[in-house]
Amino acid sequence: MKGIIEDSKLIKRTERLILRPVEISDYSLWRESSLERLPKQNEFDKGPPAEKTLTKQFLKKWISGNKKARQKDLLYTFGIFDKKSKKYMGLVNFCVISRLSYQFANMGYELHNQYWGQGYGTEAVHGGIELAFKKLKIHRVEAGIESHNKASIRLCEKLKMRKEGIREKYFFNGKEWIDLVYFSMTAEDIGLKRTKPTITTSLNDLI
Ligand SMILES: CC(C)(COP(=O)(O)OP(=O)(O)OC[C@H]1O[C@@H](n2cnc3c(N)ncnc32)[C@H](O)[C@@H]1OP(=O)(O)O)[C@@H](O)C(=O)NCCC(=O)NCCS
Repeated sequence: MKGIIEDSKLIKRTERLILRPVEISDYSLWRESSLERLPKQNEFDKGPPAEKTLTKQFLKKWISGNKKARQKDLLYTFGIFDKKSKKYMGLVNFCVISRLSYQFANMGYELHNQYWGQGYGTEAVHGGIELAFKKLKIHRVEAGIESHNKASIRLCEKLKMRKEGIREKYFFNGKEWIDLVYFSMTAEDIGLKRTKPTITTSLNDLI
């Protein structure tokens, strides 16, 4: 694999937020903001976690798993942090990464519900998309959303992502295969001129 970016460069500052991989030194504030989550707001919201699950050991394992996944170019998870309070607010991630001649990633995001409705989600996802295009050298980002997830759909519309259509029976939600509405954006949409793929994978070395 060639061209993978070092962790120290995986950081994006927006007006009010910082996006970067979570570190173990974030533990206290990560725990605090997780406990401050309000009761579950809707079916897309995880709601407050059980306090006993918020151990340092759990976070350590999660951080280490994410680091290994980054090194293999499989998953990039960026914690969303408030610049002022330094609190962990949620995450933006990129998975289903395809390099070769695609340079594609599927984007996911979630914000602790105490921070909803203040534009943080849109700001964080915009920052995440910049990281994907500029640092991860992704060319196309897509977000798959359930058609009744109005907040998420509105967020993509606000970012001027293109609505491409519905992928039927595309995603297994733990119970069944569901349809997702797809929104996309490419590097050109933020003014980047990407002439060719820059990150290659082990498959490039094999074939
Ligand atoms: C999606 C999510 C990140 C949005 O976070 P947020 O910080 O509240 O988003 P913003 O404040 O930036 O608002 C985005 C837009 O959605 C709108 N919105 C929020 N809730 C809405 C709802 N229930 N119906 C319609 N629009 C809604 C906001 O009004 C805003 O649009 P506007 O500026 O035109 O008014 C957050 O709701 C979340 O974490 N949801 C649970 C996880 C999830 O669904 N992730 C996405 C999976 S695809």
